[in-house]
Amino acid sequence: MKQGLFITFEGADGCGKTTQIELIDNYLRSKGYETVLTREPGAKGLGTKLREILLHYEGEVSPNCESFLFLADRAQHVDCIIKPALKEGKIILCDRHTDSTVAYQGYGRGINIEEIKHLNNLATSGLKPDLTIVFDVDIETSMSRVGKEKDRMESSGVDFFNKVRNGYLDIAKKEPERVKVINSSDTIENIHKKVVELVEKL
Ligand code: TYD
Repeated sequence: MKQGLFITFEGADGCGKTTQIELIDNYLRSKGYETVLTREPGAKGLGTKLREILLHYEGEVSPNCESFLFLADRAQHVDCIIKPALKEGKIILCDRHTDSTVAYQGYGRGINIEEIKHLNNLATSGLKPDLTIVFDVDIETSMSRVGKEKDRMESSGVDFFNKVRNGYLDIAKKEPERVKVINSSDTIENIHKKVVELVEKL
């Protein structure tokens, strides 16, 4: 029985979501809410090992293998961290979740999107976020924020990131009730206000 709230934060690399998650976390805590700030891939334990492979393995990684590793991390994360915290009535603030796999491995790498959704469903046992915020920013801005030191995923190129960005916008179009897009080229303060508005509605 779910009692807490499950909010996910999404967007292409360098979209500024990590800053925004920290701000909304502080805001909710200051109002007395109990939050859990977590992330995919690699929240803790086994996940950190999977994260290391996903972001830093230097040999060939096939798109299907990549997908299954993200999904394996998700299954562990949902079962061992998210569901127990929801049962305790906490607000989960999760940096990336199911939509990342749809956007990156589906739209980006070209894996069948319906199949990814099906596998996501298996990995989460059907758990869905109450709210998903997508931070949208043009690729030039996001790439300049990422900088020169790129991990394995960040090295995927401009074409890939254009597909990822369009993927997120498409996801939001298809599920407007759950997925809200915020233009992330605005100031940190203005973006934070918009995040607060969306979260307070819940
Ligand atoms: P991370 O350092 O957490 O990046 P960010 O700060 O942008 O969230 O790296 C996670 C990377 O993994 C990022 O490039 C997105 C990618 N990713 C996928 O490709 N599929 C997924 O399912 C998830 C969760 C992440």
